[in-house]
This record gives sequence, C-alpha cells and structure tokens, in this order.
Amino acid sequence: MTAKLVVGTQWGDEGKAKIIDYLSSQIDYIVRYQGGANAGHTVSVNDEVYIFHLIPSGILYPDTTCVIANGVALDPISFMEEVAYLKERGIDVFERTILSDSCHIVLPLHRAIDAARETAAGDKQIGTTKRGIGVCYGDKVMRIGLRLGDLLDKDRLKECLTHFLDVKNRVLANMYSEPVVDFDPLYKSLLEFGEKVRPIVRNTSLELNTALKAGKSVLLEGAQGTGLDIDFGTYPYVTSSNPTTGGAIAGSGISFQHLNEVIGIAKAYVTRVGEGPFPTELHGDEAEELRKIGREFGATTGRPRRCGWFDVELLRHAARVNGLTGIALTKIDILANYDEIKIGVAYKRNGQRLPAFPTDGNLDGIEVEYETMPGWNEDISKARKLSDLPKNCRDYIDRLEELIEVPIKFISVGPGRKDTIVVDD
Ligand code: GDP
Ligand code: IMO
Ligand code: MG
Repeated sequence: MTAKLVVGTQWGDEGKAKIIDYLSSQIDYIVRYQGGANAGHTVSVNDEVYIFHLIPSGILYPDTTCVIANGVALDPISFMEEVAYLKERGIDVFERTILSDSCHIVLPLHRAIDAARETAAGDKQIGTTKRGIGVCYGDKVMRIGLRLGDLLDKDRLKECLTHFLDVKNRVLANMYSEPVVDFDPLYKSLLEFGEKVRPIVRNTSLELNTALKAGKSVLLEGAQGTGLDIDFGTYPYVTSSNPTTGGAIAGSGISFQHLNEVIGIAKAYVTRVGEGPFPTELHGDEAEELRKIGREFGATTGRPRRCGWFDVELLRHAARVNGLTGIALTKIDILANYDEIKIGVAYKRNGQRLPAFPTDGNLDGIEVEYETMPGWNEDISKARKLSDLPKNCRDYIDRLEELIEVPIKFISVGPGRKDTIVVDD
C-alpha cells in the first residue's frame, strides 16, 4: 500500500478537510505533519459540522488511526479542548489517536509572544492567528524547544524547562514587558499533560513506515497551503512551516518511496486571511459579494477572508513545488451567479510577463493578465457527475486544467461528502 498526500495550493482554506474526509473512508492512518492549532479544517457530515484544529479530519471514521506526527506544533491546551469537543459529540480521540514523541510543544507564553510581536510590529504585522505557532517553531530551530517526549520524564522536563524559561523569561521581560512565567505551575501542568497522553505517545515515523510495509494505507493531511509555505510562499507573510510535499516527508518521517499521489486542493476562486500580497484580489462590493456567497470567514479566528479570482500562476507554482499528480477543485458551486468569471492567467511587471510565480516574496507592482469566461448562472450543487454540469462550467474547468497542466480529478460542489464529482480517467 502507499501514501497519499493532500496539500493546499493557495493561501489555506481551500477545502482540504472536505476532500480529506471524502478520501478517508478506506484509509488506515490519517496524519497531520505540520502546523498546529492555527489550522481550521471544516467537515460537514449529514447535518453536522465539525471544525478541527489539531486532530486529523479522518477521526470521523471509526476504523482510522489518527496521527499527530513530529512536524506538528502541539498545543496541549488546544488538544485537550478538541478532545473534549469531540467527546461531547461521541468521539473518543484517545482510542484512535497517536502522538509523536518529537512534536514540539506550544505553550501559553508562545501565544503571548505571538500576540505581543504582532502588536509591536505596527504596519509590519503578519496577521497571524496568534496561536503561538511561529514562536514555537522559532524555539525548535533555536534548539531550546520542549518536545512531547520531554514531558514523560520528570527529571528531564525539569532540566529542559529550566533552561527554556531562563531564555524565554528574559525575552518576555526585556523585549515585550510581559509578565515572566513561573516554573512550578507550568512544570506541573506539563507533567500532568504528559501523564494523560503517555499511553498514546509513539515513535510515529517507525509506526507509519512499518504499517506501510505491512500493506496499510496512509493519508497525509496538509494544513495551510503553498502560498503560506515558509520557503515557497509570500515570505514574510507566511506561516512558519512547510505545508508542501517536502514538509510532509520531513514532518511525518514517512519514506518518500511510499508517496505515490499528491492531490492539490484548489478553490475555484482564491481567498487569503491575514496580510500579504494577493495579486488577483477583489475589493469593495465585488469582494463583499464573493465573501458573502462563499461564507468566507476564518474557521479558526472568524476573520473575514480576502477574496479574489483564480490565480493560475500560483497554481502552476504549487504544481511544481509539490509535484501534484491531481487537483481537487472546490467551491465551484459558489460561482453559480456570475455572468462572467475571470481567471488570472499571467503575471506582468512593467508590461513584461514574469516567467513564474516569484519566489522572492516580492509581488509589488505585479499586474495580472485576465481571461474572461462566460458564467453558467445555474445552481450546480446537485451535480454528481461531470455531465450534470452546464457546458460553461465544464469549459471553465477544462480551461483551468489546460492552464495548470495537472489533471483535475475531483470537483466539489458543496461542503458535504456526497457533493463530490469524481472525474474518470
Ligand atoms: P481547509 O482549511 O482547507 O480545510 O478549509 P476550511 O474548512 O477552512 O474552509 C473551507 C470551507 O468551505 C468550509 O466551510 C467547508 O465546509 C466549505 N466547503 C468545502 N468544499 C466546499 C464546496 O465545494 N462548496 C461549498 N459551498 N463549500 C465547501
Ligand atoms: P488551514 O489549515 C488560512 C495564515 C494567517 C497568517 C499567516 C501566519 O485552515 O488552511 P500563523 O498563525 O500560522 O503564524 O499565521 O498564515 N494562516 C492561515 N490562513 N488557513 C490556515 O490554515 C492558516 N493558518 C495560518 O492568517 O496570514
Ligand atoms: Mg481552514
């Protein structure tokens, strides 16, 4: 058996969880490999809506094992809140979830510094989710971070936490004038969390590779998206991890040899939350209309999402850096009431076409060349096969496929499982 990866191709919120949920029914392991509780993944099943932040979206299937792998920034408070939220809805997370011993731990002080840094940044704000993710990954890279395995041994935790607070309290007090953190209550709460999760902490890389060798199937669940990737996104307006394919390998410890499918999730238009460049962005009434019809409000922070037309350069970039083998096009039902639909097909600067999506993060002065296609002015949410779609809608999909040069394998026409068209080869 092999591993499949689902990755965001735009700036997050592409509808990854909807497609992950759709693909999960026959899967043994669903793995989160990066990011943390900055993600907001929405799954609609029958009349129920679930929003996941840390727990893989596959938890809704009774026979899957959910994995929070080494690349995830694990916030114990968010995790326990999500466990309680799912318990109320009849799902026992502890029964079917395993956690990597090498996940880095997000602490309340990471959140406090994230928020304080944003406030201090003035007009250089990133517009983070304030979940402490970037600060936690910063400590990982600085090699002072706490990992889940550290929480399982009281002497080791004492030593690591003493060193960690020694560094961080100086930062809190001197840089941000924030209150310093007392050792004792934090030590106690981390030990308590360690005890709670001890039975489900594992070497998840070993477990996943062993399972794959034994013929089990694995689905890797990306959070965020390519435009938010720390290396391939619009730096510095990015998140602090690699949602892209390389990050899936590093963040799960699965051998690349097992990965045989990379499905890029692309919304039929584009959204972005937070600051940063967005070449095909709509403004004013046009943006408001799309936001309203698409219900584009953040699943984690509730912030209104910025909205714009489909951006082919961004998708071609995502296809390249992720090695996409297929695309799932989502929310195309939202474009039902447009007489005309625009597609951003190329970037230009000073009248010259750029060869590709810029990787230097500088999108200043970019002009977008658009193609305009006729809309279909018809509700398509009940379509279940390609031939149910009106011709203008199929033409739009075909044109996107032609421009991106990656096959569109799934078309999503609504939030539910059944609202999905599988495109036959
Ligand atoms: P994710 O972070 O990529 O998993 O996406 P979010 O959950 O943040 O946002 C996607 C939103 O669109 C959610 O509210 C989904 O229920 C919804 N959604 C997903 N696919 C479709 C679709 O094809 N049509 C419609 N109308 N809604 C969709
Ligand atoms: P899902 O998985 C959309 C954005 C934030 C901000 C930037 C950095 O639901 O697609 P961070 O808190 O990560 O340091 O913020 O990244 N961002 C997301 N935008 N969807 C997400 O996740 C996001 N996670 C982070 O808005 O611009
Ligand atoms: Mg989301």
